Amino acid sequence: MSFRHKHIIALRDLSKDDIEQLLNTAESMRDINSREIKKVPTLRGKTIINLFYESSTRTRTSFEIAGKRLSADTVNIASSSSSATKGETLADTALNLLAMKPDIIVMRHAVSGSHYFLAEKVNCSIINAGDGTHEHPSQGLLDMLTIKDKFGRLDGLKVAIVGDITHSRVARSNIQGLTKLGSSIFLAGPPTMIPPGVERLGNVTVCATMKEAIQDADVVMMLRIQQERQGKTLMPNAREYSRYFGLNSQNLQYAKPDAMVMHPGPINRGVEMSSYVVDGNQSHILKQVENGVAVRMAMLYHVCGGTAVE
Ligand code: CP
Repeated sequence: MSFRHKHIIALRDLSKDDIEQLLNTAESMRDINSREIKKVPTLRGKTIINLFYESSTRTRTSFEIAGKRLSADTVNIASSSSSATKGETLADTALNLLAMKPDIIVMRHAVSGSHYFLAEKVNCSIINAGDGTHEHPSQGLLDMLTIKDKFGRLDGLKVAIVGDITHSRVARSNIQGLTKLGSSIFLAGPPTMIPPGVERLGNVTVCATMKEAIQDADVVMMLRIQQERQGKTLMPNAREYSRYFGLNSQNLQYAKPDAMVMHPGPINRGVEMSSYVVDGNQSHILKQVENGVAVRMAMLYHVCGGTAVE
């Protein structure tokens, strides 16, 4: 079965089968990452440009590693050192990069939907590495793979997502992906950080308190407070936030005893989560990062026309 999408911009655009195919391929890619020689020739001769208009540690590094492990030529461009600082538009930057004949542009941009605009301008594949408050599909997929690793399935799970839902592209991608695969989502956060109408996205319940969201949850996914996108103060202060919406060893006990704790990073330790929980034995945060490489290898492989991996 071949993957029928040229671009991966949002999990909203993918079917359950598409997502399962990407997760299955990522599971196979993991084998490469544990070898002594972590390289296969799958994408030899392909050129990937990682174009990042916002800062990143995990996503940019793992897309670069993913491309290199598949033998693609990868080039990184940070907007701070690009001609964007001289006023070049996104469309002009894209057309100039396209003249160099890349096969894939992986882009992170602060404007929601900018990848759809880019996809109309170029003839290479576009992968979204995070756009504004819209989606972060590679993060959603790596989160789903990490959950599947623990439970062997995604259907029938209670997943609590806590924090700044309004500004979280991670939350949107997880809601889109997890509900398609049969999980139930329970959201909690300050009322100023819950977008109106979010229940309409599917099997999503907005809870009045964090306790209600995490009660008997299989997964507790904490989000970063996206201060760079808030524009105005949406909470009294970090201490108040932590008191009502921070995860610690006491309130984690409301979740199931074997519940897994997740966070996309970067973490504000002591605000969104206590260090005890971040570093505790229920934390899967570094496993998420590890799975990020395999998931991004799968995304690169499939937009280049790779067929299903058995
Ligand atoms: N989770 C995530 O997107 O992290 P980075 O901003 O470091 O890429």
